[in-house]
Amino acid sequence: MQLSDPVDPVDPADPTDPVDPADPAIPADSADPPELARPGGSLIRPAVESDVPGIARLEQICFSDPWSEATLFRDLTENPAAHYLVAVALDHLLIGYIVWWQVFDEAEIINLAVSPEQRGKGVGRLLLSCMIDEVRRAGASVIHLDVRESNQPARHLYEQAGFHQTGMRMGYYANDQENAITMLKRVT
Ligand SMILES: CC(C)(COP(=O)(O)OP(=O)(O)OC[C@H]1O[C@@H](n2cnc3c(N)ncnc32)[C@H](O)[C@@H]1OP(=O)(O)O)[C@@H](O)C(=O)NCCC(=O)NCCS
Repeated sequence: MQLSDPVDPVDPADPTDPVDPADPAIPADSADPPELARPGGSLIRPAVESDVPGIARLEQICFSDPWSEATLFRDLTENPAAHYLVAVALDHLLIGYIVWWQVFDEAEIINLAVSPEQRGKGVGRLLLSCMIDEVRRAGASVIHLDVRESNQPARHLYEQAGFHQTGMRMGYYANDQENAITMLKRVT
């Protein structure tokens, strides 16, 4: 998917629509940052400050070592290397996000998450694909990431997107000493 792809019209009555408006997710900011994609209902756009509570809530749901709201806020507002995209449902509920840091031509995915009730519908793939388009446009030549060895859904997603394993960090995660797989994708 290219960012320049035409925007699909949204049909809330369509049962194949990937986003369920009844989901008890987090209200996202209804302000008007630029849209990067709108496939079949969920909208991808850069995060704004008022998205931070929703991102923090997803962190808590999705990770055993979540970033706090304060850390996320500081990173979003004060870290010039940090970039955030959010996936927002029809009714402005925040259902996913991706965070990366980019310095010169190197980008590193810091986190990617989709709310549990919205998984398996292509939202993670779309966030990742928009991120890849964005870093390429910003002049990156390579994307790095670490992923837990046991995290098969994420590893499959990254492999499908063209990342390959470059190594392993033994006992990398401080809270449970799980190994990290390091992965890389060239984007030039
Ligand atoms: C990893 C995650 C972001 C995937 O999001 P998602 O929206 O469910 O993913 P998608 O529906 O876009 O699926 C894209 C691909 O991911 C892989 N995938 C997704 N769920 C999977 C599962 N349960 N098992 C195996 N592979 C899976 C597949 O390759 C899939 O492609 P396919 O449908 O053609 O098989 C989501 O599972 C999540 O938020 N997990 C918890 C947080 C996390 O672990 N983040 C990664 C940090 S490195």
